[in-house]
Amino acid sequence: MVRIETVLADVAAQPLAEVVPQADLVWAASMVHHLPDQQAGIDGLASALKPGGVLAVAEGGLELQTLPWDLGVGAPGLERRLLAAREQWFGEMRAGMEGSVRMPYGWTTALSRAGLREIGSFSALVEHPAPTTETVRRFVVRHVARLVEALEERISDDDREAARRLLDSEGAGYLGDRDDLYVLGTRTVHTGRR
Ligand SMILES: C[S@@+](CC[C@H](N)C(=O)[O-])C[C@H]1O[C@@H](n2cnc3c(N)ncnc32)[C@H](O)[C@@H]1O
Repeated sequence: MVRIETVLADVAAQPLAEVVPQADLVWAASMVHHLPDQQAGIDGLASALKPGGVLAVAEGGLELQTLPWDLGVGAPGLERRLLAAREQWFGEMRAGMEGSVRMPYGWTTALSRAGLREIGSFSALVEHPAPTTETVRRFVVRHVARLVEALEERISDDDREAARRLLDSEGAGYLGDRDDLYVLGTRTVHTGRR
């Protein structure tokens, strides 16, 4: 029988070893980039590994893409501009964190500096090709709506207006009425063994 117990911890404030028993696997997905000092965070996560245990850090990969280049609404290339705006937001988010420390090297180097061995990484393809299914259509509409909401202040008036039309379920340009949407991206997982 498997017993699951949840604990709430701030891994920027204390090594994981102080909060959970020694583990065969520590899995950290899309969270280390939220820590002001990412190397210290990885060191802290690695502290909870048993000898031979694996730390898996899922960070990076290729940004999800979902839209045709020319949507016929606004200027072509809207999705690339949204992703560029998100990249800019990300840099400012990291730089603006209290106690932010740059990590001027990749995740596998960070795992190695944490004293781990057998360092490696792999990527998983996330692909739901067009023609669009209803599930993909609903996902893409929500995904684009969230991006636009978060980046509203960072995109041009023209792109904001195009996004409004694309997300207007009553309008002729509504994304949710298209069958050429898709989901394509990769997720990378970096691993190291104690
Ligand atoms: C983008 S979400 C990722 C959620 C999920 N792991 C996934 O892959 O979808 C970032 C997560 O990092 C967690 N997080 C951020 N700072 C943290 C900290 N200092 N200590 C522990 N968890 C933290 C947040 O609570 C949130 O669940």
